[in-house]
Amino acid sequence: MTRKTYYITTPIYYVNDKPHIGHAYTSLACDVLARFKRLDGYDVMFLTGTDEHGQKVEKAAEAAGVDPQAFCDKVSQSFRDLAGAMNFSNDDFIRTTEPRHVKSVQALWQKVAASGNIYLGHYEGWYAVRDEAFYQEDELQDGPNGQKLAPTGAPVEWVKEPSYFFKLSAWGEKLLKFYEENPGFILPASRRNEVISFVKGGLKDLSVSRTTFKWGIPVPGDEAHVMYVWFDALTNYITAAGYPDTGSDSYKKFWPADLHMVGKDILRFHAVYWPAFLMAADLAPPKRVFAHGWWTNEGQKISKSLGNVIDPLALIEEFGLEQTRYFLMREVPFGNDGDFRRAGIVSRINSELANGFGNLAQRTLSFCAKNTNAAVPTPGPLAEMDEALLAEADSLADRMRAALDDQAIHTALQYWFDLVDAANKYIDVAAPWTLRKTDPARMETVLWTLLEAIRQLAILAQAIMPNSAAKMLDQLGVSEAARSFAHLGEMGRLRAGTPLPTPQGVFPRHVEAAAKEGA
Ligand code: ME8
Ligand code: MG
Repeated sequence: MTRKTYYITTPIYYVNDKPHIGHAYTSLACDVLARFKRLDGYDVMFLTGTDEHGQKVEKAAEAAGVDPQAFCDKVSQSFRDLAGAMNFSNDDFIRTTEPRHVKSVQALWQKVAASGNIYLGHYEGWYAVRDEAFYQEDELQDGPNGQKLAPTGAPVEWVKEPSYFFKLSAWGEKLLKFYEENPGFILPASRRNEVISFVKGGLKDLSVSRTTFKWGIPVPGDEAHVMYVWFDALTNYITAAGYPDTGSDSYKKFWPADLHMVGKDILRFHAVYWPAFLMAADLAPPKRVFAHGWWTNEGQKISKSLGNVIDPLALIEEFGLEQTRYFLMREVPFGNDGDFRRAGIVSRINSELANGFGNLAQRTLSFCAKNTNAAVPTPGPLAEMDEALLAEADSLADRMRAALDDQAIHTALQYWFDLVDAANKYIDVAAPWTLRKTDPARMETVLWTLLEAIRQLAILAQAIMPNSAAKMLDQLGVSEAARSFAHLGEMGRLRAGTPLPTPQGVFPRHVEAAAKEGA
């Protein structure tokens, strides 16, 4: 039997600047989904990478006084380093300056041109280098000093040059039909409606080449033109699957992608232009584009000029990797905008990880260390309360899976934390410390039930906090081979008598520096 496959992608990030929390966030969400699918038995391809062509990058290189390729090499490496520091499990890292990609983009261009969807013309209009996007006059606002601004706030400039166009205007009806037939193509639903009304408003042909700068992939047969950076960038998703070799094993296995994860800023490119390019080349569009929201910092827009950019490496350094990963996925309903607050991360760490999951495991395991010969206790007949906790634990994976299939990462984590909470309440009510004297057999049943709940919490937590979950599973004496979702529920019950190593705290409390000094 062939295994189920899952292909998930992050945006490829511009190398004009080093990575920040927004980049870490999108990639982290993908990492969580990819890890979950792997544990669930899928053959996963998780792709990330860097977007290295175009005027924005060319200008950044110029400002740094470095040649563009050397500049890209350096900044691209900082995105790879971030992936290492955040423990991302990406299977590939694509760079648009790689030969495999240049070949792929040129092949796609030729395919789209051969289908009659590209023609030579002349572009005259507004362009924002910061967004690498064209804008209509009526979309613009007046900024300071007579400067016109895009709706994103990016300054625009008037561009006038020969250009190839993609016949986007011919694809409106087909796109609308595609959205209609594939209601899950764009999520969340509110974003889907925005895209549909944009397309219903009428599509103009899209300029897909530039002649006034050089840093891009040459148009095949007309080297005075370099391709529009979005035509180049979007193609990365098929390059990594093996395009133009559509007969290759990897292409057949992974294309169309299951999910392109993006921020809301770049939804239009992914949900309108990209499926149109693909359909014009007679290739399948991806199955889903999910646009998540935007982070602010203590209520303020994150920007370099405000000096409030959050460096993910600094977060890891201060709060810990696993804690940072948990917070970012737990704090904000996935899809909505979110605000980064110190108080928020400290509270999640202390109340949910240290006092919640950490304390649950620590109390249970130290009790076993002292009272059940440092081994998994022997359960007797289960009481109703034991059955109830086990039922919640045994159904957790299905509930998390359903939530994650809609990219409701926060909902999956809510279910997870609800079980932590239920188990902490259970231990207080069942009070094994009292049973130790009054009913040692019952005490063993209670402890075994708790260990089972913790085991399942730890197995499922591997997708979010892989290192901490592994430490927890070590302490439960669960072998490496018994950590996939195939071992959840009844399939992997803890066996009485299995030795338990000396318990060690996995989730320390976070103490603010000021409080430490005061202590
Ligand atoms: O747009 N909050 O690259 P980019 C949440 N190269 N997410 C954020 C964020 C924030 N404040 N800031 C950035 C590009 N992001 C193109 C993509 S894909 C074929 C080409 C995340 O470096 C979010 O995912 O500007 C957003 O869509 C992406 O970074 C933009 O990264
Ligand atoms: Mg951007």
